[in-house]
Amino acid sequence: MKIIGGGASQLLASRVAAELNCELALCKFKTFPDDEKYIRIIDDIGPEAVIVQSTITDSDLVVLLQLIDACSSADRIHVVIPYMGYARQDKIFNQGEALSARAVARTIEADNVITVNIHEDSILNYFKCNSVNINAAPLMGQFVSAMDLHDPVILAPDKGAKELAASAAKEMGIEYDYLEKKRISGDTVEVSPKNLDARGRDVVILDDIISTGGTMAEAVRMLREQGALDVYVACIHPVLAGSAVNKLYHSGVKDIIATDTIERAVSRVSVAPLLAQALKEL
Ligand code: R5P
Repeated sequence: MKIIGGGASQLLASRVAAELNCELALCKFKTFPDDEKYIRIIDDIGPEAVIVQSTITDSDLVVLLQLIDACSSADRIHVVIPYMGYARQDKIFNQGEALSARAVARTIEADNVITVNIHEDSILNYFKCNSVNINAAPLMGQFVSAMDLHDPVILAPDKGAKELAASAAKEMGIEYDYLEKKRISGDTVEVSPKNLDARGRDVVILDDIISTGGTMAEAVRMLREQGALDVYVACIHPVLAGSAVNKLYHSGVKDIIATDTIERAVSRVSVAPLLAQALKEL
């Protein structure tokens, strides 16, 4: 296997290569003056190519398509998309809309696709090849349980993320719950844990994606008002668009923890061991 890291996932690709004890291909990336992308895989590709590239921006997707094309000589191509952009556009609400997650998935020509905590499992059906989605939440649970926290609890920011919190917490014996919005009066909404009391406890709020940070910032503020001790926010995919980091610290968050599906300063948990295992099992 030759591991080929796209520009958006260079660190993760090198970690996957180290886990598998495989060669990492030397690649060249550049942008033309008109903003078009250029890629070249300088090393020999060999018979089995693994391309690792998150598609955070539209350009990242173009680079992924270019890398797949450049691997045309390989007998087998495995595409790892640790974070797949457009995955949140997984439903049609109004006539005439694109199902953007499907539109993106359909562009991938490969033998296998591997994703990490894809926003909706149903998107996997849109790939034209075998697809596997891996769950990085237990890794997050391991990281949290190694932190020196006081009576910790893992909370999902809403009911939709409850299973994510459960899979992070369960194996490590940490309590978990989800946050529920309750209308207190005409203009007051309270966000609080459905079943547990966060008062006097350290809290980790875990979601699949932090994008603008709005969902998390509101939850952090409310939990601190309700007497939680330190409140951490954690996610699999740290999109952290615009001023998200500033917004989160302004809300009183103690720290931000994420994986390296998107390579940010807060990416302290690597999904490389999980990806290496999934590649071995193909
Ligand atoms: C939504 O479906 C996702 O699971 C996240 O809750 C959402 O993307 C967070 O967005 P933001 O950080 O912009 O509030």
